[in-house]
Amino acid sequence: LHATRTTTLVQTSFARLSPAADRLVERFYEELFLRHPEVRPMFRGDIRVQERALLGALKLAVGALDRPDTLLPVLHELGARHAGYGVQPAHYGVVRDVLLDCLAEATGPLWEEALATAWRDAIEQIAAAMLAGAAQSAARH
Ligand code: HEM
Repeated sequence: LHATRTTTLVQTSFARLSPAADRLVERFYEELFLRHPEVRPMFRGDIRVQERALLGALKLAVGALDRPDTLLPVLHELGARHAGYGVQPAHYGVVRDVLLDCLAEATGPLWEEALATAWRDAIEQIAAAMLAGAAQSAARH
């Protein structure tokens, strides 16, 4: 998929979802902990606060998808902090799949293959940047 097309599809979709965004992140943690109870102990803080944090990061990342100069340094730092929370590379696939399912649920009948592919692409770019940041910080220590 062309990068610009991904950005357009994801940004349009996210804007359309915005009235349901609180519900989306609430469902995300419900579903994540239901499917993967083993990750629950890594979350030490209030999940309501965590919902806000995830939504804020998604807004920022989606908004800046086509501005890697802005986005990459932020995601590198975010990924380095995640290594400190105990997050392993394999967890990113788990989060991607749960997030995709929650996006599909929130989008309803407008969810289709091109949109699913665009979101998958965007989430994988975000995860790759976070993992690069985690690896860089591990190499520095
Ligand atoms: C799509 C990629 C992800 C994004 C955008 C994201 C975003 C965030 C944000 C913004 C925070 C708040 C703290 C901070 O800024 O350092 C956070 C915390 C956290 N995230 Fe993520 N995250 C992602 C992937 C993951 C994955 C794959 C896991 C593994 C299960 C994970 C587990 C955690 C944990 C354990 C915390 C700390 C929670 C706490 O202090 O209670 N995240 N995440």
